[in-house]
Amino acid sequence: MFSNLKYNKVESDDDDAGERSIYSSGPTKGTFYGIIALFFLSNTITYYIASSDFIPNDYNRDISPHAGLTRDFPFPLGTHSPYVDKNETLRNEMWEAISIDAGMIAVPEPFVSDKNLPPSQKLVWDKSKSVYLLNGHHTLRCVRAVYLSLMEFWQGKLQSRRWEHVIHCVDQLRQEAICNADDTPRYSTADDIPVSGMGQVRLCRNWEKLEEWAKKYNSCYRYVNQTASYKEFPQIERFIWCPEDSPYKEAVEQVFGHVEW
Ligand SMILES: *[C@@H]1O[C@H](CO)[C@@H](O)[C@H](O)[C@H]1NC(C)=O
Ligand SMILES: *[C@@H]1O[C@H](CO)[C@@H](O)[C@H](O)[C@H]1NC(C)=O
Repeated sequence: MFSNLKYNKVESDDDDAGERSIYSSGPTKGTFYGIIALFFLSNTITYYIASSDFIPNDYNRDISPHAGLTRDFPFPLGTHSPYVDKNETLRNEMWEAISIDAGMIAVPEPFVSDKNLPPSQKLVWDKSKSVYLLNGHHTLRCVRAVYLSLMEFWQGKLQSRRWEHVIHCVDQLRQEAICNADDTPRYSTADDIPVSGMGQVRLCRNWEKLEEWAKKYNSCYRYVNQTASYKEFPQIERFIWCPEDSPYKEAVEQVFGHVEW
């Protein structure tokens, strides 16, 4: 299934050690190339073992409590994606395009009490519904903000996001790691540029299924302008983007008229 994935250890972003020139003296050239060849061979073998059809099988009971998603989506760790593409234009387009809109959901009272959720703001168009932001979407928005902030630094541009927010986002990622206490054993290589887990398959939840589930609770939300303050862009104007079949469409139109997407 993943046999077409190339193993490229030079591009590995798994290396934060920095020091790479450990061969300043000692071994002859022959030994040096021998060692390199051995490393390469052992890494290649490890890689193929790890990325062959090995699929972990102990995820059965890990069902998400609200959308009821199981881990049925094989997803290789750390392989190339357009989000790390060398083409900066393409890469930026990918990150820019990340949307969290579907994650802002409006749920009815029984949902709130059944799941014992904390009270939340009411939907303006139907006060019997409460509005929540799914954590997965919140995390995604945070990673996006961190990426954009880093690119702004890299290009010497002014920061478009509040610095406190960027730090908050990095801490959110830290908390996600701690909370998930992910026990996936990543295979490792005995290389001076260490690699772990690249191409190794794990079972994930299917993000598309989460978005599909969230559609049931569509709150007509669109973030629209990510950098505008609430003063510049009133929060209510984020809740007027109803799909055709939305039960809130009429209420929105009474206040805002027809809203063009
Ligand atoms: C980089 O990506 C952009 C947007 O997808 C594309 O238009 C452009 O041709 C790409 N540049 C190169 C050098 O591939
Ligand atoms: C978002 O809002 C900010 C502040 O009002 C404004 O400077 C910027 O042009 C807006 N961006 C878009 C895409 O409308």
